[in-house]
Amino acid sequence: MKIKEYRAHFIQELTPLYDAGEAESFFYLILEEKQQLKRIDLALHPDLVFSASEVAVWNSILAPLKQEIPIQYLLGKTSFYGLDFSVNEHVLIPRPETEELVDWMLSDHRKTQQSNNLKILDIGTGSGCIAISLAKNLPNATVFAIDVSEKALATAKKNAANNTVNVNFIHQNILEAVTLSAVEGINEQFDIIVSNPPYVRNLEKEEIKKNVLDNEPHLALFVEDDDALIFYKKIAELALENLTESGLLYFEINQYLGAAMINLLQQMHFKNIELRKDIYGNDRMIKCTR
Ligand SMILES: C[S@@+](CC[C@H](N)C(=O)[O-])C[C@H]1O[C@@H](n2cnc3c(N)ncnc32)[C@H](O)[C@@H]1O
Repeated sequence: MKIKEYRAHFIQELTPLYDAGEAESFFYLILEEKQQLKRIDLALHPDLVFSASEVAVWNSILAPLKQEIPIQYLLGKTSFYGLDFSVNEHVLIPRPETEELVDWMLSDHRKTQQSNNLKILDIGTGSGCIAISLAKNLPNATVFAIDVSEKALATAKKNAANNTVNVNFIHQNILEAVTLSAVEGINEQFDIIVSNPPYVRNLEKEEIKKNVLDNEPHLALFVEDDDALIFYKKIAELALENLTESGLLYFEINQYLGAAMINLLQQMHFKNIELRKDIYGNDRMIKCTR
């Protein structure tokens, strides 16, 4: 079958579930990943064909796409801050908003002398996307990363190895940590503590797309409606003890809870609190000092 004929069939099968542009972008992602062909190759060689076994592989990806399984899980990989990450059902798919948080941190630290020996802790590391991107871009920093999920940590370790960085991964339920220095594997103060913890309230479930709700780990996403800032409170408490004198705390936050976050950090006497919006104009990240 000619590839361009299969392409028309693929896009037709996926619309209107996805808009045509998204369906087309899936087609080219798979074309590159499974056939090592780019869009330009198809333009230059419009008579290229798929063998019967290749069509079978494509159909085996098309079927779950029609059930709204995320393309990143089907391909087993995604890109974050210019790096490749393996992903699976045990880890949240890294989001562009989180890239913005990493970018903020790097613009604060990349140029400073201090970045030579920064000690950094990422809490709720998931795929390891934050910790690994920081380690890659701050090569002299020492990076630690915590998660409660052993399976997420296994994925994050693989991602660190594939991206040739060294991150100290620690299995820990952060809500049960009395102090950070009591956590096995940690005996330092941190210059930076960062977290993108679970922050979606059950009451927001209706807003969550079906492909996220049905496929991404709920452990990574949801908190109780009546204690939505549980992770932020705990991590801020731990940071009060374990951040260095001039240390910085960064969080990705729920877009509806910017004011509540400022309030929480003020009550805990954090200083220099700065709230930032993401590219969509939503309150999405916050930083402060002790
Ligand atoms: C929103 S995801 C963020 C993942 C990744 N840092 C990112 O930005 O894509 C939250 C992560 O926190 C982890 N987590 C949930 N509860 C936790 C707990 N009590 N202690 C430590 N980690 C926890 C989840 O397993 C998940 O990997």
